[in-house]
Amino acid sequence: MVRDVTSQESIERAVSDVKELVQEDGLDLINNAGSVVANLDEVTADKMLENFHTNSVAPLMLTKAMLPLLKQAAEKGTSMGIQSSTEINMSSLLGSVELYWGERAISFPFSIFKWYPCKASKTSLCMITRCLAVDLEEHGILCMALHPGWVRTDMGGPEAPQSTEESIASVLSVIDSLSERHHGSFLHYNDEELPW
Ligand SMILES: NC(=O)c1ccc[n+]([C@@H]2O[C@H](COP(=O)([O-])OP(=O)(O)OC[C@H]3O[C@@H](n4cnc5c(N)ncnc54)[C@H](OP(=O)(O)O)[C@@H]3O)[C@@H](O)[C@H]2O)c1
Repeated sequence: MVRDVTSQESIERAVSDVKELVQEDGLDLINNAGSVVANLDEVTADKMLENFHTNSVAPLMLTKAMLPLLKQAAEKGTSMGIQSSTEINMSSLLGSVELYWGERAISFPFSIFKWYPCKASKTSLCMITRCLAVDLEEHGILCMALHPGWVRTDMGGPEAPQSTEESIASVLSVIDSLSERHHGSFLHYNDEELPW
């Protein structure tokens, strides 16, 4: 775990701790940290930048810093997937540009949240996921984005239909089934492909 994903010092400390822990085994990486919600009347430049840092810049910097360990894990595997080396970016339906428009947006439960920083930075994370998937493919590292569902956490709030246990069980089941065909994808926790 990285204490503060927006601090390079914190990232480097985490890399050194993880290296000591995993030795020659390498690792899989899940970028999960997320923060900051604000509607149009509350949004400020600082809130936008803070969330871009946490939700999209930090996963990129963390992946870059952990790359030697991801490569180490990939070298041991025989196929792309959780058996070798995988990088998962915890994104959100909120980051889907296509889903947030017209009829689809109305039937889309998340449309009630007009969270500018969160939505825009998750869209950016989706693009970063695609860019990383292109760059990491030659190293055999599977890279994809995942929506964990609307979950009763501090962020999801008490109205969310899923408990953390239910969400984690679904997320683990998707992670367990990942293979080469999921490389560069954006998946719902129910295993369905999501539109970017
Ligand atoms: N909950 C949902 O319905 C939902 C839906 C779609 C996507 N997601 C995504 O799922 C992920 C987890 O969300 P959640 O619902 O668990 O959110 P949450 O309840 O708000 O928890 C956010 C987590 O991120 C950590 N975090 C925030 N900023 C950080 C930073 N700079 N450095 C290190 N850690 C930091 C927090 O750590 P501290 O507690 O130490 O602050 C906390 O553990 C997020 O990426 C979120 O966008 C959630």
